[in-house]
Amino acid sequence: MTSYEEVYAYLERRVDALKTDKSGDEKSTLAEVFDAQTLMTIYDFMTSGLIEHVGYPISTGKEGNVFYAEDSDGEPMALKIFRTSTSTFKRINKYIEGDPRFNDVKGNRRKLIYAWTRKEFSNLNRYWNAGIPVPEPIHFKKNCLIMEYIGDENSPAPQLRNCALEDPDETYDEVISFAIDGFKDAHLVHGDLSEYNVLMFDGEPILIDCGQAVTSDHFNAKDFLRRDIENINRFFKSRDADIIDIEVIMEETLNKDSDDE
Ligand SMILES: Nc1ncnc2c1ncn2[C@@H]1O[C@H](COP(=O)(O)OP(=O)(O)O)[C@@H](O)[C@H]1O
Ligand SMILES: [Mg+2]
Repeated sequence: MTSYEEVYAYLERRVDALKTDKSGDEKSTLAEVFDAQTLMTIYDFMTSGLIEHVGYPISTGKEGNVFYAEDSDGEPMALKIFRTSTSTFKRINKYIEGDPRFNDVKGNRRKLIYAWTRKEFSNLNRYWNAGIPVPEPIHFKKNCLIMEYIGDENSPAPQLRNCALEDPDETYDEVISFAIDGFKDAHLVHGDLSEYNVLMFDGEPILIDCGQAVTSDHFNAKDFLRRDIENINRFFKSRDADIIDIEVIMEETLNKDSDDE
């Protein structure tokens, strides 16, 4: 097995490589994403054989980055790393106020972000087990989450907003079913369903970014559901799809029994 020093030096080289040829903004983002503890977590992933190497950043966001990664068989994966910064903390805090599941982590920035990572993992699991197309969750630790990579050898799958749709009506039905079946079968409301958080792969939509999803009994669940449907209706209207009235969708979601009940 490689020694700790070797792996750490390797990771630092990788991080340095990531920092070169980037704008000033991106440089500081990456420096913040790869703080010492995050490097340690990636080191753990490597020594436990989950990850062989971390590749290029697929996405650099305000609250975290998603990296292309591979396991020892060269199988691609996506590694999502949440920044443990104050801005992430502030946004997350809004979502979990009043949620008893987070009582023990309130006020502790790092712990809260770890809990958020765990929440995204468990939400992915719920969707996955209910048959909603999401990246298969693989593993998580602290602020790092490993999931199935959506894309091919050339590039990651594009976001819905950047895709020309062959059959907008069909894609609309599928994306709306993320809200309906997500509620009835996974008992979750995504809470940030939009053309940004749906990837298109082989003509099929896949739901991502499930950290903020709440359970269907959450006191805000119905409001979040309505907002999700509004977002999807607005986007697909701009793509000339046949939109279903929001009240009809709300009723179908809230009143019909789940298929497996
Ligand atoms: N499993 C994945 N496979 C391929 N690309 C992904 C995957 N997960 C996320 N991405 C890319 O990274 C972007 C950011 O991920 P997301 O989970 O939406 O985080 P956030 O919006 O909070 O930064 C996505 O819009 C998508 O382009
Ligand atoms: Mg997103």
